[in-house]
Amino acid sequence: MKSDNITVLSPNENVKEAFRTEINDAVDLILGSIKDESAFSGINPYELREKIRQLSFLPEKGEGWEGVLPSLRETIIPNMLRTWSSSYMPHLHSPALIESIAAELIIAAFNSSMDSWDQGPAATEMEVRTISELATLFGYNDNADGVFTSGGSQSNISACIALRDKYLQKRGWDVKKNGLPEDFRKLRLYTSEISHFSFDKASHMMGLGYDAVVKLPVDGKQRIDIEKAREIIKQDYESGLHPFLIATTIGTTDFGSIDNVKALREIADSYGLYLHADAAYGSGAILSSYKERLGNLSLADSITIDFHKMFLLPISASALLVKDRGTLDAFQLHAAYLNREEDEEDGYINLVGKSMQTTRRFDALKVYIAFRTRGRDGYRAIMDKAIGNAEYFYSRIRDDEAFTAPIAPELSSVVFALKGGDDVNRKARRKLLAEGIVIGQTVFDDNVMLKFTLLNPALTKEHIDTLIKRLEQEIK
Ligand SMILES: Cc1ncc(COP(=O)(O)O)c(C=O)c1O
Repeated sequence: MKSDNITVLSPNENVKEAFRTEINDAVDLILGSIKDESAFSGINPYELREKIRQLSFLPEKGEGWEGVLPSLRETIIPNMLRTWSSSYMPHLHSPALIESIAAELIIAAFNSSMDSWDQGPAATEMEVRTISELATLFGYNDNADGVFTSGGSQSNISACIALRDKYLQKRGWDVKKNGLPEDFRKLRLYTSEISHFSFDKASHMMGLGYDAVVKLPVDGKQRIDIEKAREIIKQDYESGLHPFLIATTIGTTDFGSIDNVKALREIADSYGLYLHADAAYGSGAILSSYKERLGNLSLADSITIDFHKMFLLPISASALLVKDRGTLDAFQLHAAYLNREEDEEDGYINLVGKSMQTTRRFDALKVYIAFRTRGRDGYRAIMDKAIGNAEYFYSRIRDDEAFTAPIAPELSSVVFALKGGDDVNRKARRKLLAEGIVIGQTVFDDNVMLKFTLLNPALTKEHIDTLIKRLEQEIK
């Protein structure tokens, strides 16, 4: 069979063999690139850009899989970031569990789409089952629903849209049909001053603008200050504004701090607001021994869960859960070509009606495979290791005169700085990057800070001790 005829999977044995060869080559490329603990080659951006610019791209005559392999082996893969490295800890960006990488292969091979039952029969039923299991895990009852999304941002934005629509519906206004009401400038969304910027994006996309987002001050532990929040929302309500949503954060991006859902639920109820929990980061801790730290998330009307953070699944994997299944009606529309109403009457579930996406990946498969492979005890060990490592790192530097570390960790990240000022910290991060050690940088109280986001369960106390020693050299 000519290689031109080998395009997509088929029952033909030659095709199957070509598939096996390419997948095996890919596995060899990946494994061959893992030589030591470094996270990155250290190449500078100009040099890498030039190497990439020189690659042949769309040749007139295809070069075949063998033609592409050398560039992968020599240029691209060696300069990719190795998320599994013990020297990688800057972001909420995790290595992937091994079984979930195999899951990705299955997802890609079948290329199911979640929009309609006939594009993914098992995929649809598995997502429905996964959402139902997640709802139970987070304390919701049978009336809950949810949908997989491309990430925490999409989950948060979807929640804001759906809860805004619901709020206005209660006031007799149908946003889906009529757009924004005349007095839309009175709508207000409340969130912590250190919450994720997806709430600002949501407000922009909802046509409300950034000005509709009220940033609530945080307390000494980087959680929404409850008394100040109550006062601000009360004043806004009494002055005739329309507060419609409090978006709490269960694991802030830098500190992993956790807002008090119970207290914020009470405030929301006093003034008729909905409550969203952005647990993109913290959701993983539901399977840890530290679960109590999250508070009762089922008090929220919706919850964002990211599986590509603490749960260690490949990008992308996120879900939005809603307490009341009607909430997702915000995204329901019917098209004659795709999701006919009569299908649903006959038991064919078309999930497109719950999502802002149409074509959508079968990410629920990764959750199923990892959950069943690891079980509660396997995941507990993973989460406990991440949180325990953060506590260990914090305890090592808290009293070390080379460092400052302003806030004790709740989850698995620690914000700290080398004593010596902003430049010392900026330079330290850049120098480590060139050595293949990738750590985070942020700002706290107007000071440049460094950050470890410890998601990798393979990280040991010895690795952490070695990093501390390396960092200390920067001020010696
Ligand atoms: C607290 C929080 N929420 C939401 C997000 C956005 O998630 P994603 O990157 O999956 O869109 C992040 C990203 O780091 C985050 O830290």
